[in-house]
Amino acid sequence: MKPLLFIETYGCQMNFADSEILVSLLKDRYDTTDNYADADLILVNTCSIRDHAEQRVLNRLKEFTSLKKKHQGLKVGLVGCMAERLKEQLLESELAIDLVVGPDAYRSLPALLDEVEAGSKGIDVLLSESETYQDIEPVRLGSNKVSAFISIMRGCQNYCAYCVVPYTRGKERSREGQTIVNEARKLFEQGYREVTLLGQNVNSYRAGDLDFAGLMRLVAEIDPALRVRFSTSHPKDLSDSLIEVMAAYPNICKNIHLPVQSGSSAMLAKMKRKYDREWYLERVSALRKRIPDCGISTDIIAGFCGETEQDHEQTLSLMREVGYDFAFMFKYSDRPGTFAHKNYADDVSEEVKLRRLNQIIDLQQQLSHQSNRRDVGKTFEILVEGVSKKDKQRFFGRNSQNKVIVFDNPALPNGEFKVRVGDYVKVEVKECTAATLLGALV
Ligand code: 5AD
Ligand code: SF4
Repeated sequence: MKPLLFIETYGCQMNFADSEILVSLLKDRYDTTDNYADADLILVNTCSIRDHAEQRVLNRLKEFTSLKKKHQGLKVGLVGCMAERLKEQLLESELAIDLVVGPDAYRSLPALLDEVEAGSKGIDVLLSESETYQDIEPVRLGSNKVSAFISIMRGCQNYCAYCVVPYTRGKERSREGQTIVNEARKLFEQGYREVTLLGQNVNSYRAGDLDFAGLMRLVAEIDPALRVRFSTSHPKDLSDSLIEVMAAYPNICKNIHLPVQSGSSAMLAKMKRKYDREWYLERVSALRKRIPDCGISTDIIAGFCGETEQDHEQTLSLMREVGYDFAFMFKYSDRPGTFAHKNYADDVSEEVKLRRLNQIIDLQQQLSHQSNRRDVGKTFEILVEGVSKKDKQRFFGRNSQNKVIVFDNPALPNGEFKVRVGDYVKVEVKECTAATLLGALV
């Protein structure tokens, strides 16, 4: 029997994809367990995007390292963005961490584990300009066997003023197109029906002559029954050719995550986003013109350095103008090492940040509810992903626009279900809340 690995993942989808690579790189040495109390090695794959994310991990690490008193031989490793940002500081802290490995150094894990087993500590936080792990076949850890992530690129060099990612994940680099297409085809052959192509800024994907629109075309052509999604898009690089490809292929989902961050051009300039409010709204209207039913979601930061009440009002008015279907909303968190940290004062008080964030959340709640109400009475094709936790006779899936629709799927007299996970079915939306749609099979 092999020793057991428990891996806990924080942060973005990219981290979840990286955990699948980590498990793959360690599969000859470890089996995985869902119960950390049984583990011989605990890896925590971490996020540095906001201070709050780091604090949560630090608390969790206290818990894990105190387990070592009970479980001799237990090793605890910190991997991902926090490992890259804090480096040896963590090995020197009172936390009993054995291993610190940055996002580009996962191939050195087996060698580092040898060092750890020999009684020393292991650290590798070198960033790379070429590592993409494109030859590593991820071990799928997702909750279903229907939908999988494929990371198509790594790193980011946009250097938005507030963001720590370029420092923790290094320079941008893309995988060769064929390795991505092969991975997607293999997933389809294994029964997967949806892939999400991941990158910090997928619109700047480039491998030789292949750009992102070209890559999407290749993946969409694998099979009409394979849905293709992608995330995240930087508005500055949202090209007409991508919009055309989205419109041309029914299996490319009609959904885009297009982080705006702020509705004020002054703030956007300070954030170094390289677009302004007008540019963003023009891109949204180009998208809507070609794909009227496209779902649009966003990320918003409340209380960035120097943000005035008028700037904040501009964010609210842009939200209304776009009518987002969904949003991730955050209070600005000052990150050491970033341009904003070095050059601007974090001068919006905590109280004002919180109030603005709450106004943004309240507005989005209304917009999401409106968006859902517009769907009542419509029929959508959904890909069935699972069984509802609360009610085993209810299943759920997502439509092309990425909305979850729950529907009744009573067991047949023989105990089987008419509709199974992985099926495409049509459902008519009957009711909604701000968060979910309730439908019935058509
Ligand atoms: N503070 C708050 N939110 C941030 N994000 C990135 N950096 C910060 C920060 N310093 C948000 C952005 C980004 C999302 C992934 O996290 O909205 O799009
Ligand atoms: Fe951060 Fe900007 Fe890169 Fe996104 S595009 S990861 S916000 S630096």
